[in-house]
Amino acid sequence: MTKSQFIYICGIGPGHPDYILPAVFRRVAESDLLIGGKRHLSLFDCTGKETIALSNNIDDIVCRLRQLLQHNPDGKQVTLLVSGDTGFHSLLGTMERYFSSEDYVVIPGISSFQYLFAQVGMSYHDAHIASVHGQDADVVNLVRTHPKLFLLTDTHRSWKYIAQLLCDNGLGHCQMIVGDRFSYPDETILRKTARELENEEHEFGLCSVIILYS
Ligand SMILES: C[S@@+](CC[C@H](N)C(=O)[O-])C[C@H]1O[C@@H](n2cnc3c(N)ncnc32)[C@H](O)[C@@H]1O
Repeated sequence: MTKSQFIYICGIGPGHPDYILPAVFRRVAESDLLIGGKRHLSLFDCTGKETIALSNNIDDIVCRLRQLLQHNPDGKQVTLLVSGDTGFHSLLGTMERYFSSEDYVVIPGISSFQYLFAQVGMSYHDAHIASVHGQDADVVNLVRTHPKLFLLTDTHRSWKYIAQLLCDNGLGHCQMIVGDRFSYPDETILRKTARELENEEHEFGLCSVIILYS
């Protein structure tokens, strides 16, 4: 089977254009149809292109891509934009469930964990990389068993929720590195103990954390 060369899945890194591979910009420029979150689409010049904003419409998108794979007489070029890296908790996982890897081409991006570890000058070959974004995990056990832990968060399992959980379980002394809105002008990175963070208020919405246990 020959690989389809018209559906691309591209990582946009943390969000600032400086952190997006030139190959992604070239690919987007050649695309007729762009699919991605509003934050993702706003990075590119979409003039003259069809765009589909991702929300709870993944079934419709899968359906559209299946149709194009069967019949694409105009040679439409399609790009699906995902945040961070394609291989780490992105829509690529969903695509793998619905399509063969022959159906698309992947261009990776800089992941949140690469970005945050770089910002604080730390390597991550010895870190445990995980996520509580949209999923539960035994955070306390993860912290106790991994001296260096990275977690994607979400609004429910937030940096504050994690800080409180650690304090409630005798781990208030752990250092937390909390990063919000990586690469944007209003990026924030805090490094404090869970106990210190437990009493702080911040409006962090796009947030990832490193937890250091000793
Ligand atoms: C669906 S996951 C996507 C992960 C992405 N594929 C990656 O490689 O980082 C969404 C989560 O990624 C993290 N994230 C994505 N972009 C971010 C940014 N610019 N700043 C901080 N965290 C970010 C947040 O934890 C967010 O809740």
